[in-house]
Amino acid sequence: MPKVFNWQLGREMSYPYEEHHPQRQFAFVFNLNRCIGCQTCTMACKSTWTFSKGQEFMWWNNVETKPYGGYPQSWDIKILKLLEEANGEPQRWDKGVYQGKTIFEAAEQHIGPEPQRVLGYLPTDEEWRFPNIYEDTSTGYAGGAWGLSNEGATLPEHKTWFFYLARICNHCTYPGCLAACPRKAIYKRPEDGIVLIDQKRCRGYRKCVEACPYKKAMYRPSTRVSEKCIACYPRIEGKDPETGGRPMETRCMAACIGQIRLQGLVKMNKDGSWVEDRYNPIYYLVKMAKVALPLYPQFGTTPNGFYMPPRWVPRGYLKQMFGPGVDEAIAKYLAPDRELLAVLQLFRRTNRIIFRYEIQEGPKVYETTTHGKPFVMYNDTIIGYGEDGKELVRTQVEEPFHIRPATHQNSI
Ligand code: SF4
Ligand code: SF4
Ligand code: SF4
Ligand code: F3S
Repeated sequence: MPKVFNWQLGREMSYPYEEHHPQRQFAFVFNLNRCIGCQTCTMACKSTWTFSKGQEFMWWNNVETKPYGGYPQSWDIKILKLLEEANGEPQRWDKGVYQGKTIFEAAEQHIGPEPQRVLGYLPTDEEWRFPNIYEDTSTGYAGGAWGLSNEGATLPEHKTWFFYLARICNHCTYPGCLAACPRKAIYKRPEDGIVLIDQKRCRGYRKCVEACPYKKAMYRPSTRVSEKCIACYPRIEGKDPETGGRPMETRCMAACIGQIRLQGLVKMNKDGSWVEDRYNPIYYLVKMAKVALPLYPQFGTTPNGFYMPPRWVPRGYLKQMFGPGVDEAIAKYLAPDRELLAVLQLFRRTNRIIFRYEIQEGPKVYETTTHGKPFVMYNDTIIGYGEDGKELVRTQVEEPFHIRPATHQNSI
């Protein structure tokens, strides 16, 4: 197999195809500290793309309650187990470099009647049944019968935890689905890296369903071909009548009530690394502030969805899910510096894609110590610009006050 460089693993890896990268890549950041599990994103996608016959069990966007929930059921536990068996140990990193095998490398050594190109499994029909089983189910307590507490939870500190993990296709740089399709029916668009299944070429072999470690390629029995998240590409292309030709964020992003989502396009080098673009908000959050991390980087597909890890969850669990950058990301997020605080204000302030931001400094408004670190808040103004350089949004770190006049107390 050819070798490609995977920057999320800090090393080269095997992949069935030679490197070939788009000019720009669809990418997104989800702040898991803010997701309220309202499923508005899920319904925005469903009502737009998967409302037809044969798509009843298809949720291109889903939000699952971790650690127990999953769509399809137990998808991550199952693939982690396969990978652990192939590696003979749990995931191991050394100074930021992944030491184990990816799903592509593990498949090279797979010996059996049907050799796989990508390590994976096909979920059963039953496993696709529940879009949100174990909703709001928290972990058990240590001690007590069946791990349950005899005392119950007391504020201010809960002894249990859960969090909501919102997921869509990661439009991976090295997609497992694309690598596995014997019909070459899956392709990655050169202009924005969006991964699509050609509905005319697909013959329903379901190798893509088996090989996507995130289980985001889905089979449709009524047409006998597979489908997946299309990154709402007409909106990315600026074809939505509302945008006047300017690139727009996807349906699931734009609908997000918790304001956890920011989506954009990052420029790519020929070797798959990102072109330095210091003031692109996605580039800043992933590469400069390093607060947003890939989901299960050890799988090896280089997903282009990045997550700000939830700060209350045990670190071991988070490291399994987001790799070795967790401690650094949470420390930075808990005591954000001036620039990070300003960039966080851009989440869901506009439906257009922001390509660049600029910060205008404002006065100091607050100073304290938080989590053992000094924290100073300035009322800076952050301005987001579109692809054409025109201003899209202007917002401040401090929320504006509206004081009701005494004569009209019930108006704002
Ligand atoms: Fe393919 Fe899955 Fe990656 Fe999406 S998340 S590009 S379906 S491998
Ligand atoms: Fe659905 Fe579009 Fe979100 Fe993909 S990007 S999950 S197609 S709404
Ligand atoms: Fe979470 Fe936003 Fe989806 Fe609500 S709309 S479940 S806050 S990602
Ligand atoms: Fe290929 Fe998946 Fe269709 S493997 S043929 S795209 S079902």
